[in-house]
Amino acid sequence: MSHLLICAMESEAQGFRSMLSDRTDETIGTLTFSSGLLCGRPVTVVQCGVGKVNAALCTQTAILRYAPDAVINVGVAGGVGKGIVTGHVVIGSDTIQYDFDLTAIGEEDGLVSPCDRTLAEALMSCARTVLPEQRLSMGRIATGDRFVGDSATASRIRDHYNALACEMEGGAVAQVCAAWKIPCGVLRAISDNANEQSEVDFPTFLASAVAETEKIIVAYFEGLV
Ligand code: ADE
Repeated sequence: MSHLLICAMESEAQGFRSMLSDRTDETIGTLTFSSGLLCGRPVTVVQCGVGKVNAALCTQTAILRYAPDAVINVGVAGGVGKGIVTGHVVIGSDTIQYDFDLTAIGEEDGLVSPCDRTLAEALMSCARTVLPEQRLSMGRIATGDRFVGDSATASRIRDHYNALACEMEGGAVAQVCAAWKIPCGVLRAISDNANEQSEVDFPTFLASAVAETEKIIVAYFEGLV
């Protein structure tokens, strides 16, 4: 069973790239796909770039080229849910593109794309081996083309869209995976609280949040049968 790991930033992807044994790199356009074995399992790692368009074009390209059996979008996020702060990890139950808005013509606000339940639960049980239960949540992840750095927007994403965390790619990855019927997981460690403090918190907590995602992903591949 082959997996595709999609990260937005090189700081999120490079740890996974360096874990690959028997690695080969292939560049398609602006994207470099690194394929090899992670804990003995076939994995392709790619840095897609920030935002929904980058995430969607990368996911589609990777699916057509590598036909992965499962896709995991891994990285950091802003915490918006009650008590979801730095040091926490959120695993997507589903995603919502909160900036997809057809309400003017009577449609629901936002665009929901599912995460694969089995994959989400597997990631959750691996996360439990790495972090205490109080620092783990499964729930909705909100995606939009905006780094959220104000508490009013963070509260709206929590209250109106019922999300625990906000980021900029997960919903796009999940939407493309749903179109191809490929199981998708979204794993995000909280780097900031999507508020006025984020400009300082994000660079401060980025590395420790990425390290949490790495431990969970390693536990996941170690446990795969
Ligand atoms: N990724 C990490 N923190 C974020 C935030 N506050 N908004 C959007 N994406 C993020």
